Amino acid sequence: MKNFAVFVSGHGSNLQAIISKVKTGGIKAKLKLVVSNKKEAYALKRAKRAKISCLVVEAENFKSREDFDREVIKHLKKQKIDFVVLAGFMRILSPVFVRAFKNKILNIHPALLPNFKGAHAIKDAFEAKVKITGVTVHFVDEKVDHGAIILQEPLPITSKDTLATLEKRIHTLEHQLYPRAIDLFARGQVKILGRRVVLRGSL
Ligand code: GRF
Repeated sequence: MKNFAVFVSGHGSNLQAIISKVKTGGIKAKLKLVVSNKKEAYALKRAKRAKISCLVVEAENFKSREDFDREVIKHLKKQKIDFVVLAGFMRILSPVFVRAFKNKILNIHPALLPNFKGAHAIKDAFEAKVKITGVTVHFVDEKVDHGAIILQEPLPITSKDTLATLEKRIHTLEHQLYPRAIDLFARGQVKILGRRVVLRGSL
């Protein structure tokens, strides 16, 4: 079974969904470590409650982005982490990190990429008045919100939606889609061919 780490910065609702799926066997991999760049992140409380080791690495203690990343890589190697799951990790990883875990870093984005990249995707989609938005799970490469797409799920925006209801519906969808994508990856059913991702087996 593969070992993985989840990177967080905040609330950690995706982390919670992942913890639950690991517990019930819905993700066939071992969640060994939760890494946060914010010591006050609520996600850390969730990890501790589930008795998962936590690592807090704060940017102000490092001279450069690369130094920060090298420190994190050191811990991941020590713990024999096979792949990394970003779940609300609000920090850009440098090429040093991306190359160290090439095609082994997953991210979730609350819109249908390549639309609405960036940190305010739900609000941006809502304000753009699009009829359909959704959720994307993708590999992380050296550009932000850009890597090859693993799974996407559309979500219609209705006339009754407010920004708050849309946020809630997007998060609910994330909590279903991300564990599914992580499990597929952990089982070796996600193959990446350039920008194209091929899924083996059934969804
Ligand atoms: C999610 O909407 C995710 O798509 C985005 O950041 C948010 C994290 O939420 N990358 P949480 O910390 O998992 O609750």
